[in-house]
Amino acid sequence: MNKVVVVTGATSGIGLETARRFAATGAKVVGTGRDQARLAELAKEVDLALTMDVTDDTSVKIATAAILKRYGGKVDVLVNNAGIGLFKPWEETDIAAIEKVMAVNFYGAVRVARALLPALIASGGVLVQVASVAGRRGYAKHTAYCASKHALVGWSESLRYDLAKTEADVVVVCPPAIRTPFFENAGYMSFEADHPGLQTMPTPEVANEILKAATDRPDTVILSNRAKLLDALNFVSPPLLRRVQVYK
Ligand SMILES: NC(=O)c1ccc[n+]([C@@H]2O[C@H](COP(=O)([O-])OP(=O)(O)OC[C@H]3O[C@@H](n4cnc5c(N)ncnc54)[C@H](OP(=O)(O)O)[C@@H]3O)[C@@H](O)[C@H]2O)c1
Repeated sequence: MNKVVVVTGATSGIGLETARRFAATGAKVVGTGRDQARLAELAKEVDLALTMDVTDDTSVKIATAAILKRYGGKVDVLVNNAGIGLFKPWEETDIAAIEKVMAVNFYGAVRVARALLPALIASGGVLVQVASVAGRRGYAKHTAYCASKHALVGWSESLRYDLAKTEADVVVVCPPAIRTPFFENAGYMSFEADHPGLQTMPTPEVANEILKAATDRPDTVILSNRAKLLDALNFVSPPLLRRVQVYK
């Protein structure tokens, strides 16, 4: 694969495995994040590891300018993956907390997309938005997180219309719960404590699905059959889903 692929949030979890997966195809992979120690490790596995805080205009401008300069303006795939969670009841989720989650998961993703969309349009490339099943339905104690992922899904669906006359595509990938450091960072007790007995997809498999999505370019990919079933149930009867949803 002779492609230039940018993966945000590539210092951990899904982003790290995705960067590795694309690198294994021979793509020139740029992985970004904030943690300097993990960026130094990432640099051994990808073409370029760059500091980029997606919530910061200047940081995104500097990083994306460096990417465009290094690859002569060519970017084929942007995997907008950087994200954070928040697990709290609505009463404990004040506006500042909601803004913090929106700043990374929604405005951050939009900021990076806006910076690289001209290059993606020029190459007929693909924007892969790592949303979530929480971008398609509600969950208990997830008001801020669900809002941020629904916003990302809505933005992406509208963007498709704006890009209709171009060769560029927008793909929304919706993983279910995946065991990564995400949960501890988000205020869960732990993955096991908060998702007892839940079978989850290993991160390398999620990365495979993201690579496949970037190649096949469907509008939306919901990972796992269970998540597809619950998504369909939410479409048919949200009250019924609320009754059967095991995760409270
Ligand atoms: N794990 C799940 O169950 C799950 C399910 C559905 C969707 N997702 C989504 O998948 C994506 C990756 O999650 P993960 O599970 O892999 O979590 P993770 O292991 O905690 O990784 C999150 C990544 O995002 C980066 N990040 C966070 N804030 C950032 C910021 N302000 N600027 C730049 N990078 C930032 C982190 O890098 P630095 O700390 O180095 O900045 C890290 O590389 C997220 O968008 C998440 O919402 C996860």
